[in-house]
Amino acid sequence: MLRLAIVLCLFSFTAIAKPLVIAHRGASGHMPEHTIEAYRLAIEMGADFIEPDLVSTKDGVLIARHENELSDTTDVAVKFPERKIQRTIDGRAVEGWFSEDFTLAEIKTLRAKERLASRNQSNNGKFEIPTFNEILALVTAESAKRNRTIGVYPETKHPTYFAARGLALEPPLLKALAAAKLDRANSAVFIQSFEVSNLKRLSTLTKAPLVQLLGDPDERPYDQEAAGLPLTYADMATDAGLRAIAGYAQGIGPYKAYIIAVDKAGQAQAPTDFVARAHQAGLVVHPYTFRSDAPFLAKSYGGNPTVEYCAFFAQGLDGLFSDFPDAALKARDKSCPMAP
Ligand code: G3P
Ligand code: CA
Repeated sequence: MLRLAIVLCLFSFTAIAKPLVIAHRGASGHMPEHTIEAYRLAIEMGADFIEPDLVSTKDGVLIARHENELSDTTDVAVKFPERKIQRTIDGRAVEGWFSEDFTLAEIKTLRAKERLASRNQSNNGKFEIPTFNEILALVTAESAKRNRTIGVYPETKHPTYFAARGLALEPPLLKALAAAKLDRANSAVFIQSFEVSNLKRLSTLTKAPLVQLLGDPDERPYDQEAAGLPLTYADMATDAGLRAIAGYAQGIGPYKAYIIAVDKAGQAQAPTDFVARAHQAGLVVHPYTFRSDAPFLAKSYGGNPTVEYCAFFAQGLDGLFSDFPDAALKARDKSCPMAP
């Protein structure tokens, strides 16, 4: 109860002041995602938080990757062609190279590459894959250097899958946060997951704030699916679902269509009452993912990401995830009237 009170106090104040700009995979619109260089650029731009997605190596070290299959964002296929295999990840057959089959020493021989063909390719092959500990060290050093608190927003990727392989993500995550003194209710940290059961477990193990992510309404969190339970993300977005989430988490990270959907013609629809209902349940709201580039920005925003940011900020968000923290900060600090 005390933890909830501290978090609500801290973050309701933040909501009144300014919504958080969370650099999604670092400044990933500009640099290869989940690299120290992408995180550092986001910090230089002024992002409030940086977001690492976390998977495990074979030797149980947390590294920052969006998925455990490595070939979309590294040169693993060139460096280890013979190590390609097929695995079943969250019930789906996937062919490729997987973090859990490589030691950290092997991972450190890889170099990051840009995932999207439409983005800057000039930094491919230059940057290492960082460990979570290296990211925490960056946050600590940059916070001290800049005399401002830079938060970290780790996401556990495929927690049920990794636990079943004897590589549970939560113990090294908690150990690293404790070592960095980021394990308190008022620490500049949010731990996020698309799954439910690992967040519920974490709520008994740490005072650090937790965020429940919401995927497509028709889908189920994988831990629920694996346990044969019917809970969908749509169920979780009802008033009763939001109240249930508030029993173990302090915030919610919905796909942005829960707040403002876009139709097939690219037209933004009227805002829903999602933010108000989540606030009513006592949850802070941090939607994902804001992207300035043409393949992602809806037609009705007219090629201007500020129009989208302003529409969302007007809903009273507590923060948002953006690949382009520079654009999000400009909108927040210079262009958009903030909701009262
Ligand atoms: O964690 C918020 C957002 O990043 C969730 O989507 O798939 O980019 O991790 P994803
Ligand atoms: Ca994420």
